[in-house]
Amino acid sequence: MSTITCETIKKITTDYIRKQKSKNPITVITAYDALFAKIFDKEVDMILVGDSLNMSFFGKNDTISATMDMMIYHTKAVCNGAKHPLIIFDMPFGTYNTKAKALENAIRVYRESDADAVKIEGGIEKADIIRELTSNSIAVVGHIGLMPQRVRCEGGYKVKGKSKEELDKLILDAKAIEEAGAFCIVVEGVAGDSAELITQSVSIPTIGIGAGKKTDGQVLVWSDMFGFFEDFKPKFVKRYLNGAKLIRESVREYVSEVKTKKFPSDEYTY
Ligand code: KIV
Repeated sequence: MSTITCETIKKITTDYIRKQKSKNPITVITAYDALFAKIFDKEVDMILVGDSLNMSFFGKNDTISATMDMMIYHTKAVCNGAKHPLIIFDMPFGTYNTKAKALENAIRVYRESDADAVKIEGGIEKADIIRELTSNSIAVVGHIGLMPQRVRCEGGYKVKGKSKEELDKLILDAKAIEEAGAFCIVVEGVAGDSAELITQSVSIPTIGIGAGKKTDGQVLVWSDMFGFFEDFKPKFVKRYLNGAKLIRESVREYVSEVKTKKFPSDEYTY
């Protein structure tokens, strides 16, 4: 079986991503550090430094308290590790609620890290902010459907696009984001049939997470897909590895070998 990698492509650009619409499925994975970013480099089209790091890396219950400083620190690390994928910085909650604030913070992202784009949660109500950024030479990824930064005001994580009204609103959102100049849109937690119709309604690619197979690409959070986050497993997550289990077993082996003085043996001694 041959493995498809992106080795022939130098650095992925927004233009390249746009051109994949309805052609090659776009692959995206989250990363928060240089070690994993280096492993993902040359394998995926884009890396998202998601504010999900506030949960899976920092141990909080939601993404709300992620800060610009935190996100910039992790984005710098990811940029140190990955040279090939397009790197997306996830704008944290409360950092883009006015045009001026969004622009100031997004400029900070470009000046302090090598991120290629910023991601903003929100539909038609965020169109002006997206336009402000794109008209100031900042590449923007939209994010509609289930928006984790709304978890507290919506009282939980709720799948969207289950009714005609919700679907109509999502299509308006997607069109407004496209019109404001975003180069792709994350569609999260949306019924599969609705995600397909949203995808057909815009000419920029849609990247699905929990949105079925008819979007132009997929994104997964690395700690979910590699089984490091064990607290719960949403339906849409496929675990490609039992990471936590493998590490726990290795830690137990190490502890046992230290206690029984099996490690370090002569092989590991100067
Ligand atoms: O923060 C994140 O990892 C995200 C993905 C869930 C798309 O926004």
